[in-house]
Amino acid sequence: MNHACMSECYGRLMTSNANEKCEAFRICLCVLWRRAAEAEREEIMEITGKVNEVRKQVKEWRRQGLTVGLVPTMGYLHDGHKSLIVRAAAENDRVVVSDFVNPIQFGPNEDLATYPRDIEADKKLCEEAGAALIFHPEPEEMYAPDFSTYVEMQKVSEGLCGKTRPTHFRGVCTVVCKLFNIVSPDRAYFGQKDAQQMAVIRRMVRDLNMDVEIVGCPIIREADGLARSSRNTYLNEAQRKAALVLSRAVFCGEEMMKNGERDAGAILKAMREIIEAEPLAKTDYVEMVDADTIEPVTRAEGRVLTAMAVYIGKTRLIDNFIVEL
Ligand code: PAF
Repeated sequence: MNHACMSECYGRLMTSNANEKCEAFRICLCVLWRRAAEAEREEIMEITGKVNEVRKQVKEWRRQGLTVGLVPTMGYLHDGHKSLIVRAAAENDRVVVSDFVNPIQFGPNEDLATYPRDIEADKKLCEEAGAALIFHPEPEEMYAPDFSTYVEMQKVSEGLCGKTRPTHFRGVCTVVCKLFNIVSPDRAYFGQKDAQQMAVIRRMVRDLNMDVEIVGCPIIREADGLARSSRNTYLNEAQRKAALVLSRAVFCGEEMMKNGERDAGAILKAMREIIEAEPLAKTDYVEMVDADTIEPVTRAEGRVLTAMAVYIGKTRLIDNFIVEL
């Protein structure tokens, strides 16, 4: 007997003339109903670290004719991730969130060891946002000791962040490809804050004929403009204030384009000046590129991505905007 059926029986019993037998039956039903509701709730949010359990669950959903959305994350979830999960839950019958700090996308001197983690808080956020399953594997579950197969991309992954982080997108493509193979989602959701990552993943999906729709979602900002990022947690008070140069530069560039400026040089100069006026900030890059190919442009035409990476102390933050002209 399922939950809906029990609810109906219970309703009928409540409105009938109760005798003692009926009362006993009612209590019994009450207990069963509560258990069914609990089981249903449990079904709403499972967590597993095992590839075969994810596969088993997704197969069962497929058997029931349900659609599946995937939100790949590295955990320490914030409102940006939440917006992806909420959207995925609105567009799919079930949502899987992967919560995995992927070691192979970090360079040797990067923050793998200190990358923030809080699985309990992540579970809560996923549940609130409507996820059905969290995939939270250990690195050993994802990478055999003799792991030796990587997805490598040319061009799209080489500019912008690829210059400072030469092995980063190889790690991203490899893990995202693995996640697609594990979950077989109908759709996968990524934030525009990592605009180059999105271009890289779209290219990988196209080039390798992966059967998944990539959905890009807008950047979520704090009230003062700072783009949400798990790495914001590294900033002390002074750095947190200084970090606002990124969004200020973004808003300035956007405004210039809105007012008709098309010359990349003029827009980038104004944006760089904002960043360079902040003593705690050190520019890695501020560039204007084609949003799909990531090739530099001199004029804003078509779909252009204006992106930046800026160090605030040791923390490297990114921000961007895309304009379609
Ligand atoms: O954007 C991220 O958090 C990661 O790069 C991703 C896509 C989850 C792959 O590890």
